Amino acid sequence: MRILVTGGAGFIGSNFIHYWLKTHPGDQVINFDNLTYAGHQESLQDVEGNPNYKFIKGDITDFTIVKNVMSGIDTVVHFAAESHVDRSIIDPLQFVRTNVLGTATLLNAALEAKVKRFHHVSTDEVYGELGSNDPPFTENTPYSPRTPYSASKAGSDHLVRAYFETYGLPVTITNCANNYGPYHDPEKLIPRFITNLLEGQKVPLMGKGENIREWLHVQDHAEAIDLVLQKGKIGETYLIQGEEKTNMEITQMILRILEMGGSMIEYVGHRLGHDFRYAINGDKLKALGWVRKHNIKDELPKIVEWYKQNEWWWKSLKSGRPNIDRSVQQSYEPKH
Ligand code: NAD
Ligand code: TYD
Repeated sequence: MRILVTGGAGFIGSNFIHYWLKTHPGDQVINFDNLTYAGHQESLQDVEGNPNYKFIKGDITDFTIVKNVMSGIDTVVHFAAESHVDRSIIDPLQFVRTNVLGTATLLNAALEAKVKRFHHVSTDEVYGELGSNDPPFTENTPYSPRTPYSASKAGSDHLVRAYFETYGLPVTITNCANNYGPYHDPEKLIPRFITNLLEGQKVPLMGKGENIREWLHVQDHAEAIDLVLQKGKIGETYLIQGEEKTNMEITQMILRILEMGGSMIEYVGHRLGHDFRYAINGDKLKALGWVRKHNIKDELPKIVEWYKQNEWWWKSLKSGRPNIDRSVQQSYEPKH
């Protein structure tokens, strides 16, 4: 099988490619990525010599190149996106361009190329925020995105569904919880906090750390996508559940692993429109046979160790970047 992975140089895409080459060694994997600030070919340097792996640099909004790349492809797994909420607050149009127009461009080319499956990777954030006592999201929860990032991902999900309903393109969608794992860009909560502490800097925790996310190991995410490709029903959406934790719980776990105390926390203002809580009911995917194999309490020490051992991967990423915190944060009392 020839599988086209978009955004394969990013965090989840690169882990997915490692997973796929290992578990499906007979398949050809084409990684299509335009190497934005979030794309790192270094994350795949160990597979560069694999004859079944090929990298093509290009933009998913460029129909000419997308059409060429799509030719002869059996399955598309679409990760490419702008993915950081804080950046979406500063530059929403870039998110609309990549996440909405880019997805539409890929869908058009996939239809022309008659691919056998277009799998779209999305997020639980499209459903908006939950209060403390609200039931978790299900596949039937109405969309209610509240950030430019989640709104642009919601737009992409709707387009994928429309190409199924209107043109019969064989699609599946997964909406996943927050991922953690190796090769995670140090702009996001877990890798930012680990690498700050490794450099002796404090960690900027928004509010009182009361916001809640679900966390899933990136390997479990890859297995879930693989299962949906094999057993998922065409046209359907599957939510991928993680483990609920407050940001303070995550912060304290990391501090404990590194044998540091609460004095390393710097309390900062919430980001604008900060979603309070995400939580997922994963029963539909579990009915296909998916089981989460990792838990964050056992895995986080390994992730900290990975960042300790792989400074070559993250040090330069951190040093060259402007700090965008001030532009996206405000101080206000949380409403929950
Ligand atoms: P990431 O930001 O680490 O990687 C995105 C990749 O897409 C990068 O390699 C980048 O170069 C590439 N890219 C961006 N714009 C492109 C364009 N115009 N053309 C081609 N390539 C382009 O993102 P991630 O965290 O790996 O997330 C991957 C996907 O999973 C995204 O669609 C995201 O919405 C979704 N998702 C992420 C999480 C999470 O916790 N990170 C959770 C649920 C869903
Ligand atoms: P993030 O990793 O950006 O993922 P998302 O916003 O897509 O869930 O943030 C996770 C949570 O951590 C979110 O509630 C915001 C918070 N956070 C901080 O408190 N400090 C930080 O420096 C970052 C990056 C996030």
